[in-house]
Amino acid sequence: MTWVLITGASKGLGLALTMNLLAIREDLHIVGVSRSAPPDNVLQSNRFSFMQADLSEPKEVLEKFSEWVTTAVSGEGEIVFINNAGTINPIGFSASAAEELIQSVNINFLSPLLIYHSLVNAFAKVFLVNITSGAANNPIAGWEMYAATKSAMKMFCATTEASRPGSTHSIDPGVIDTQMQAQIRSSNDPSFARKDNFVKLSIEGGLQSPPQAAVRVLDELSSLSIL
Ligand SMILES: NC(=O)c1ccc[n+]([C@@H]2O[C@H](COP(=O)([O-])OP(=O)(O)OC[C@H]3O[C@@H](n4cnc5c(N)ncnc54)[C@H](OP(=O)(O)O)[C@@H]3O)[C@@H](O)[C@H]2O)c1
Repeated sequence: MTWVLITGASKGLGLALTMNLLAIREDLHIVGVSRSAPPDNVLQSNRFSFMQADLSEPKEVLEKFSEWVTTAVSGEGEIVFINNAGTINPIGFSASAAEELIQSVNINFLSPLLIYHSLVNAFAKVFLVNITSGAANNPIAGWEMYAATKSAMKMFCATTEASRPGSTHSIDPGVIDTQMQAQIRSSNDPSFARKDNFVKLSIEGGLQSPPQAAVRVLDELSSLSIL
């Protein structure tokens, strides 16, 4: 059986990817990871399992996944890990609480890394799909934590790919109309000088819907024979 593990499956891009795969791929079993549950129509599918986990707590994540790979999984299958969950917070650095900085690193970088480590030691074949962002390459004032953590994860994947060719792929999904964009537009941090650009983008209809972005991501994975 091929497993697909999607973090952040409860909303936004992760939910759209989950719903799309459930609709078109009967050969996959999807495990969704997030704090809140996805909608009932997803939960009711016998090809979907929900794992409640808070990625800001890496030790708990490690314990949960260590248990999952030894109890729920035979260890002989294949798994595609879509590292999708993410947080833009905190926007602004100096005024943010130290705890927010830690949470950003844990959610965007450390917990995905630990999940991947659990998987590569349990499954015969693991492919890591990393949902990245333009911010991993381009500095945007006020986005220190988001940019640094997305960049770290992208570099981890690039180095993993150099070590084991054919094992990872990073995809930038483009700007999408999700909770993350709403959080960007509601930021009042003075260092975030480009906020008006994001407000304008939303007003002028420049955002993709989550289902549109999911189709683009899945088309790219399909063209590379990853999924
Ligand atoms: N939106 C954009 O314009 C855009 C642009 C480029 C790249 N991206 C990337 O696309 C990905 C998805 O973003 P999105 O826009 O769909 O974001 P979103 O709507 O804010 O959804 C984020 C997802 O991550 C989960 N999540 C957040 N914190 C978590 C935590 N502590 N533990 C477990 N799960 C957590 C959320 O689930 P719960 O709240 O239920 O925990 C939710 O399912 C991210 O990697 C983002 O960097 C987005």
